[in-house]
Amino acid sequence: MKVVHTVQELRDQLRGQLRVSFVPTMGNLHEGHLALMRTARQHGDPVVASIFVNRLQFGPNEDFHRYPRTLAADIEKLERDRNVYVLFAPSEEELYPEPQTYRIQPPEGLGDILEGQFRPGFFEGVTTIVLKLFSCVQPRVAVFGKKDYQQLMVVRQMCRQFQLPVEVIAQETVRADDGLALSSRNGYLGSAERAEAPRLYRALQTVRDRILAGERDLGAIERAAVAELSQHGWNVDYLTVRHQSDLQPAKSGEALPATVVVAAARLGQTRLIDNLEIPAAGVPAAGAPAAGDPIAGA
Ligand code: PAF
Repeated sequence: MKVVHTVQELRDQLRGQLRVSFVPTMGNLHEGHLALMRTARQHGDPVVASIFVNRLQFGPNEDFHRYPRTLAADIEKLERDRNVYVLFAPSEEELYPEPQTYRIQPPEGLGDILEGQFRPGFFEGVTTIVLKLFSCVQPRVAVFGKKDYQQLMVVRQMCRQFQLPVEVIAQETVRADDGLALSSRNGYLGSAERAEAPRLYRALQTVRDRILAGERDLGAIERAAVAELSQHGWNVDYLTVRHQSDLQPAKSGEALPATVVVAAARLGQTRLIDNLEIPAAGVPAAGAPAAGDPIAGA
């Protein structure tokens, strides 16, 4: 694997390559990232990964300064895994040699809800750096994880609306054995918090199961999940059932198209996000389990 730090070196390495497959990251790599690299390898060649902790997407009170920077260990992991051909690890001066006054404004309706509401400026920072990285790497394919569900949708919308020649591939969330979605921020959790953290995913599973069992009072289902988390010391920013198509709120009392329950909650100082897709669920006959209900056949 070649490790390059400047845009010029990157371009020299990639000259003439037409099928570049790209995975942007902020480093501190874990199994979830390595799964992104494997997927990238299936969709193109060569695979380029980037590691860059992007100041622009962190709010003033967020964890930019303490975000884990572990380049040497990350390089070892990528070398061992043998899926990445070029690692692009630029300095801040390389990518932001002057103040970044041109920014991508995330779309209204998708960019200003959920994460966009609780982390103002986050999607502006993400789309600006992703566009810049796309311009440096010029990939044909880019892989993003579904754990950052809204980020994936925002990036897809940006590519579509700017007609960027990049196919965005979604990678399933990788979880620890107890269900916790892998994330670099899990490293912030103390041991008691780490033991508590899988409750977030269990809460999402309960929401999904209740919907698939035919319940349609989404407000009541969401409130119960928030209450369960709050009782165990969580501070919930949001936990809500949304349409997969546009992340707008799903409505109670109707046949549901494909939805996704998305959540962000803080355990101590650590903010975790997670989500779970829920297949379309018809209107259940009174008293009967809904079609497709996994509980029905149990
Ligand atoms: O998901 C991330 O790690 C970051 O938001 C990304 C896409 C690398 C942009 O900095």
